[in-house]
Amino acid sequence: MLVLGLETSCDETAAAVVDESYAVHSNIIFSQQDHAPYGGVVPELASRAHMRALVPVVRQALATAGVGWEEVDGVAATRGPGLVGSLIVGLSLAKGLVLARNKPLVGVHHLEAHVFSNLVAAQVEVPFLTLLVSGGHTELILVRELGSYEVLGRTRDDAAGEAFDKVAKLLGLLPGEGVVAGGRLIAELAEDGDPEAIDFPRALVDEIDFSFSGLKTSVLHYVRSLTPQERTAQLAHIAASFQEAVVDALVAKTLLALERADVATVCLAGGVAANQRLRQRLRVAVEHRGLAFHCPAYDLCTDNAAMVGAVGAFYLSRGVCDSLNVDAAPRLGWRV
Ligand code: KG4
Ligand code: ZN
Repeated sequence: MLVLGLETSCDETAAAVVDESYAVHSNIIFSQQDHAPYGGVVPELASRAHMRALVPVVRQALATAGVGWEEVDGVAATRGPGLVGSLIVGLSLAKGLVLARNKPLVGVHHLEAHVFSNLVAAQVEVPFLTLLVSGGHTELILVRELGSYEVLGRTRDDAAGEAFDKVAKLLGLLPGEGVVAGGRLIAELAEDGDPEAIDFPRALVDEIDFSFSGLKTSVLHYVRSLTPQERTAQLAHIAASFQEAVVDALVAKTLLALERADVATVCLAGGVAANQRLRQRLRVAVEHRGLAFHCPAYDLCTDNAAMVGAVGAFYLSRGVCDSLNVDAAPRLGWRV
């Protein structure tokens, strides 16, 4: 079975062809540059850019996979959560395609797709725990079985990626060169800094839930207390110490969640899963407890359509699909 996946929930326009064993036949991602001057994603610009890019991206995904329409067995498109205008573009194209070709449609939960990003790369034993860390979400999800999820902890304010992006902005690293992913810029800067140079706060230490807004404010106050010369001299230390505070919280809360979840495997997913320090520290902590650890390849951490196609393949191979009435759902919650 071959599934065409479409992902347009935020500012990546993506299409992929995936089969029922989640092998990726193509995975095309077009990262929109339209938002660079604004230091954040502008929803109206995002939907317009999806309108321009999506059809060429789909054609490229089919061509790279070496398949024609007749070989595609179904279409899966992200239906939420995300930016409503962006979701509508992807879902509408998916509906048009399945209507024209008489194929089944699956409307995909974006966070379930991030959970599936690890299944694309490896055989993962179920049940497992996923730490999902992206620009919009920070959640610890117990996957009892595929299709059945329980959220054990979530952020009470900013998502981890959002904290990275906001701190990148206040350190003056954004906007620049069409990049909105502040996390990558902080991580690069942190390589030259001392993670113990500044003792930024760790919040809610005894709880599984996360909180990053106090940390962000603490960085802001610290930066404001410096002269311009001190600020330049300490920039790498600030980035490294901030990153360490985020990673400490993510690792500590994953270990707390493991006390409540009877699992032998931990997966890391979402855009912040591209962070090298987090990957290393979480792997060491998890493997130290004798558990298996998985994190996806870098191009499967940030938003992509291969993970959406994988969810589509999972449901379609079980005979589950959606009607053409399936709606874009910007605040879609978990089906549990
Ligand atoms: O999953 P994603 O592509 O989009 C959402 O669904 O939100 O995640 C994007 C987030 C951004 O906040 C970005 O700053 C962060 O992932 N990110 C990183 C790194 N690369 C991307 N954060 C920390 N370290 C990185 N290397
Ligand atoms: Zn995402």
